[in-house]
Amino acid sequence: MVKLHDKYFKPFISADEIDKAVTKIANEVANDLGDEIPVFIGVLNGSFMVVSDFVKKYPKPCEVTFIKLASYEGVKSSEDIQRLIGLTQDLTGRTVVILEDIIDSGNTLSDIHRIFKNEGVKALKIATLFYKPQAYKKDFKLHYVGMEIPNKFIVGYGLDYNGLGRDLPEVYQLKTTQHMTNIVLFGPPGAGKGTQANFLKEKYNLRHISTGDVFRFNIKNETALGTLAKSFIDKGELVPDQVTIDMLSAEVEKNADANGFIFDGFPRTNAQAEALDTLMKSKDSQINAMIALEVDDEVLVERLLERGKTSGRPDDADEGIIRNRIKEYYSKTAILKDYFSAQEKYFGVDGIGSIEDITERLNSVIDKL
Ligand code: IMP
Ligand code: MG
Repeated sequence: MVKLHDKYFKPFISADEIDKAVTKIANEVANDLGDEIPVFIGVLNGSFMVVSDFVKKYPKPCEVTFIKLASYEGVKSSEDIQRLIGLTQDLTGRTVVILEDIIDSGNTLSDIHRIFKNEGVKALKIATLFYKPQAYKKDFKLHYVGMEIPNKFIVGYGLDYNGLGRDLPEVYQLKTTQHMTNIVLFGPPGAGKGTQANFLKEKYNLRHISTGDVFRFNIKNETALGTLAKSFIDKGELVPDQVTIDMLSAEVEKNADANGFIFDGFPRTNAQAEALDTLMKSKDSQINAMIALEVDDEVLVERLLERGKTSGRPDDADEGIIRNRIKEYYSKTAILKDYFSAQEKYFGVDGIGSIEDITERLNSVIDKL
């Protein structure tokens, strides 16, 4: 795995596979062009590597030159029409083969066609090492394609992410979040959820997202979403689900290098569970499991009363309040238990025993996800 700026990339196409693809197009072009001496034109910056390998493999005499069309910024190809730099040679009557590292939307290609229309060339052929058919929006013919790839952002072998990665001899793909293990953790008050979340987060490199903490953080730091949330809270209204979801979304974005997330305190309703599914899907990811710690009511009451002696939390001191909180927990989670059970994602874990035993039980659930 490589990290460039803030993003992670995983190995995708090996140097050996690239070499084969370059050889393939070099031979195809050579076969088509016979004895004619072509002018190969690399489109800088990305194509410098493929052009240098390509011409070494090209079995016949050729000319090679470069042009530059700065058409690209960050992770999205721009729509701007670009200016051409570097074409000083007379190409009248010549067979020109454009050598591209990658064809994505085809915008660059469209500029190239526009620019070469007036050059009086005999033929204009397009060769590209990589081609993203799902991203391509034009209908210019691509004469030679080294490899078709899915519409995912790649770096290496000339291709960059904001300037970095061009030097890599193999190609890497932007790591999305689909590898993640995301858990919704539930447990009645006193079940030891916090303690267990801490162990899980260490063991699996998960981020613990407690909705309460996220709210407090956003409000304290006066983020746009925090301020919005506060305006509802101040009026005594419930914060709309979308605001909470947007905060969670930002939290997920911030931690794209995590192996996954433990959601704590969210979702609480069916609508929220659906919104969370949509959010994870938009990140190429998913909720893998709802894990609920199951502890007998009487044990919970006992534990909380015990905790109340030292914690100073008034809601831990009164048995009536404790029983009410437990009851409320069950009435709320019942819906979610059904929601996740329907997707075969509900796992109840016996929450009685030593801390280590319970951690062990949780681990065995997660290891099987
Ligand atoms: P197009 O104009 O959308 O076909 O894409 C042209 C330019 O966008 C390429 O020459 C690259 O510089 C850049 N580009 C497109 N896709 C990628 C990618 O996956 N990684 C890095 N650069 C890319
Ligand atoms: Mg390019």
